[in-house]
Amino acid sequence: MRQPPSGMYKAGALLEHKEGNLPAHSRGTAKVGLGVSMELAVGILGTGSELPEKVLTNFDLEKMVNTSDQWITERTGIKERRQAAPHETTSTLSVKASRKALAMAGITPENLDLIICATISPDMPLPSTAALIQRDLGARACCAFDLAAACSGFLFGMTVAEQFIRNGKYKYVLVIGAEVLSRYVDYQDRKTCVIFGDGVAAAVLGPVTPPSGILASDLHTEGQHANHLYIPAGGTASPASHETVTRGDHYIKMRGNELFKVAVRNMEEVSRRVMEKAQICPNQIDLFVPHQANQRINEAVRERLGVVPEKVYSNIDRIGNTSSASIPICLDECVRSGRLKKGDLILMAAFGAGVTWGAVLMRW
Ligand code: UT7
Repeated sequence: MRQPPSGMYKAGALLEHKEGNLPAHSRGTAKVGLGVSMELAVGILGTGSELPEKVLTNFDLEKMVNTSDQWITERTGIKERRQAAPHETTSTLSVKASRKALAMAGITPENLDLIICATISPDMPLPSTAALIQRDLGARACCAFDLAAACSGFLFGMTVAEQFIRNGKYKYVLVIGAEVLSRYVDYQDRKTCVIFGDGVAAAVLGPVTPPSGILASDLHTEGQHANHLYIPAGGTASPASHETVTRGDHYIKMRGNELFKVAVRNMEEVSRRVMEKAQICPNQIDLFVPHQANQRINEAVRERLGVVPEKVYSNIDRIGNTSSASIPICLDECVRSGRLKKGDLILMAAFGAGVTWGAVLMRW
């Protein structure tokens, strides 16, 4: 017999989530049965990541396009990135990362109430990559959907998941940031191919005991800058044809310079906003995890915020820019290496195509 969704809490299921000392804005209540409402906080119960084995170095790219290790290192901070093998897809890598996250959370795929896959490089236009992940993970027929917010996708996904858990609809939500961007990158375009890489990471969100949990989040989209970073063809605006393929319109096009300026300004502003909401000063942050787009962007944001360099996590030299997977890969590395400890205050900020941007502040 099919089990009821674990999100439909039974009376007493959340009794450990007593009145917390969270700021007023971040409090949520969940009906826990028998008309009882209780404060609850939403946090991350487990993380997992999966990177393709193949490493593509700056020296490899020197042989493919007119660039140099020196230019890439100085302008971006990237030394190498990963590239999926032909048999690997966004969903196959996601399933592996998700299994690790579920194991850390101590739950099984059948316990999941919702799967959100944040991606701009889906396996195929339909069905959703989340549906394929659900199937291959062996999860039950819970709600599953893709979320398209580019590099901000994981933070958008976390915030959507938080709402469902906070209002008592769902208990365990799997949020995945997953990209195989190498399938969308033109390896003759030096403006993009040096930056992007492949990778996936997942997080299980669920109820946690305060003061742990998400303290504040803030998300934005400004479509007027949509053409700063886009893939022109393959959708309804320009369906696939011999001509679109010949023109290379299925590849990512980027106006890096324009994005750079907007990224620094918006990541700083949104980071300040979540800190204000939670009444936190920059010097209280234990770990700042910015989206890994460009080391120079992150250095500029860090400096403007007044966060000391030791508190900023970076893996861009090894991983490159993996869009929606970038922040959760960093998170997983920090959790598994012990860099992130219980009680730490962590600030995450992202920026990407759309343009989208956002920040999440949480206590681990
Ligand atoms: O993931 C979120 C969204 N993406 C971003 O946030 C990306 C943000 N932008 C960036 O990271 C940077 O703008 C890039 C790394 C993409 C480019 O760096 P830049 O310092 O802004 O370079 P640029 O576009 O201003 O180009 C400077 C010069 C140009 O040559 P000329 O016209 O001055 O002779 C480019 O043609 O560098 C040239 N160039 C390169 N040279 C060697 C551009 N790409 C390369 C390259 N190798 N790969």
